[in-house]
Amino acid sequence: MGQVKATPGNIKKAAAVIRAGGVTAFPTETVYGLGADGLNPQACARIFEIKGRPRFDPLILHECSAARAMKLFSKVPAAAKKLAARFWPGPLTLVLPKAAAVPDIVTSGLATVAVRVPSNPVALALIKAAGRPVAAPSANRFGRLSPTSAAHVKKQLGRGPDMILDGGKTAIGVESTIITFEVGRPVLLRPGGLAVEEIEKVAGPVVVKKRGGVPLAPGCLAKHYAPKARLEIIERGAAVKPGPHAAYLAFSKKPAGKWAAVKVLSPSGSLREAAAGLFACLHSFEKKEIRIIYAERVPAQGLGRAIMDRLKRASRR
Ligand code: TXA
Ligand code: MG
Repeated sequence: MGQVKATPGNIKKAAAVIRAGGVTAFPTETVYGLGADGLNPQACARIFEIKGRPRFDPLILHECSAARAMKLFSKVPAAAKKLAARFWPGPLTLVLPKAAAVPDIVTSGLATVAVRVPSNPVALALIKAAGRPVAAPSANRFGRLSPTSAAHVKKQLGRGPDMILDGGKTAIGVESTIITFEVGRPVLLRPGGLAVEEIEKVAGPVVVKKRGGVPLAPGCLAKHYAPKARLEIIERGAAVKPGPHAAYLAFSKKPAGKWAAVKVLSPSGSLREAAAGLFACLHSFEKKEIRIIYAERVPAQGLGRAIMDRLKRASRR
């Protein structure tokens, strides 16, 4: 079936693919996901094969309402209920003790499961029509750049998925923020599309646990989101040399000099706009002449935290 527009008819077909144990790529408001029946271990196994993803890296289950999502947990602290009520549907993933029905392949044998309710209408319609939780990691090859368009999915995964639902560019552009709880207090496992500051307004101070400068979910390796070229994080105005093999990723202002490619994340200096375009800019640098990408540091606040997290992981060698 390949890549098709996300019309109501095609969303129904995609839901049928998922119910039959197949795998469909679909848009969410964060990035494209590679979805399968989250209660069918064999279907989930295909996700790992298509992505080339190691089995120790657990999947996120997607539901179409908070009420349904809560059924996937066995215990929900009060702070988690508040966050779900405020931010679902949206770019927030909660990690909590799993219900018995959740298969081990989804959680990589952990006692907890990651769940979110996406806000993208195509994603919601698909999950609703499938009538079950949809397990979906980002629809990229393991460790590589995340996809924010159907074309990005097609380029990395080719004919791997049974279907790719094209719902246009994703609005937020970085993955969901992942929160777990320790003795009732929120802990950040991955900064993402929902700013930590917003979470703190609802649930109080968020604990940030880091390893090697980046928060660590089990499969969220220090090197991740990697472009083909080397990536170096720099300060604006740093003495870097332009040239035919060097690309420049600016935050708000073009650099001087003759670069192989230049992208400006947000001319108005908006971190939200910068996050939305981050992966598309990095995808546009996937050309053989580009050997090094200089990426400007952005302010580590709001969505800037997610941007810096992705850039740091992309810069690991
Ligand atoms: O925005 C998103 O979250 C996207 C869209 C498709 O929903 N999905 C996504 O999935 O980013 P993925 O698989 O690329 O990243 C999920 C992260 C992984 O780093 C995984 O290790 C972590 O969530 N994770 C999953 N289950 C977990 C658990 N039980 N405990 C801790 N971390 C978990
Ligand atoms: Mg991913």
